Amino acid sequence: MGNLNALTTAIRDLNDEMTRSLAGVGDTATLEAFRVEYLGRKGRVSQLFKTLGDIPAEDKSEAGRLLNELRDGITHAFEERSGGIEARALDAQLLRESVDVTMPGVSRAVGHLHPLTQVQREIEAIFQRMGFDVATGPEIETEYYNFEALNIPADHPARADWDTFYISDTTLLRPHTSPVQVHVMESASPPVRIICPGRCYRRDAQDATHSPVFHQIELLWVEEGLSLAHLKHVLELFTREFFGEGYEMRFSGDFFPFTEPSVQVHIKAPGATRWLEIMGAGMVDPAVLTNVGYDPEQVTGFAFGLGIERMAMLKYGIDDIRAFLTNDLRFIRQF
Ligand code: PHE
Repeated sequence: MGNLNALTTAIRDLNDEMTRSLAGVGDTATLEAFRVEYLGRKGRVSQLFKTLGDIPAEDKSEAGRLLNELRDGITHAFEERSGGIEARALDAQLLRESVDVTMPGVSRAVGHLHPLTQVQREIEAIFQRMGFDVATGPEIETEYYNFEALNIPADHPARADWDTFYISDTTLLRPHTSPVQVHVMESASPPVRIICPGRCYRRDAQDATHSPVFHQIELLWVEEGLSLAHLKHVLELFTREFFGEGYEMRFSGDFFPFTEPSVQVHIKAPGATRWLEIMGAGMVDPAVLTNVGYDPEQVTGFAFGLGIERMAMLKYGIDDIRAFLTNDLRFIRQF
């Protein structure tokens, strides 16, 4: 080299080569390789600057101007290309990450409480407003709590009224919630005012009105001075709240070993002709009060046991108890 002509030629060649090379740059990696090759500290442009020392003094300023022009040109081309690549990458990223807010959403199915749970909670709420606490007891019971303490001694024929699943000689799946009465009274002194919802089991063949697994709610109120009139009032309040205004209610005689007297409670819808049984009830038998250490001369009480399935069936006109257990969504969704 050594003269301005040669340098001018070299500059033009490098510029042409650079232009071709830059045209092939399509991503950030090749762009960086281009920058290092042409504009890097030891790159092609720097190398050309080094030849400036060989140029005669009178041509130096023109040579310097040409070299600066070359460097500025390449830098400008590089930056333009770089901007284009970044914009393309950003476009691609935006496209990848964009959300079309006008697309229909993915809906999540929201469930709801089973109709039996709804009815149970509704009944609980009615009695809680009247001042009853909610108690619970075990589903596996001993013969003592299920029978003896409730005034049904061994070999008493009334035991056959509850078709009981036995687990061993003395333990069983409770066929009613009445044993919870005994647990509650054993652990508290009067006044006692509880309701107890829970699952019960009976050795019944399944049909439209029987299920080997079902639910009851027990009620027990023991205090000084309670009579059948109090029971009737509580039940009237309950019937009105649960079924609605205008229902009639009547008691008829029944028998349970743990209540004396015992009654069957019937209701009749406004305008209806048929009486429907809703529960068994009665005044707590003095023998039961004695069994738990209460003094039947001082306190009296009343109790009832109602079937939650039966209440739901009466309220909603369901004619088959099996509907509660078959998980048919066409049924469940109506509640
Ligand atoms: N436990 C009785 C039953 O299951 C119902 C009942 C409860 C009756 C309390 C009177 C008092 O049939």
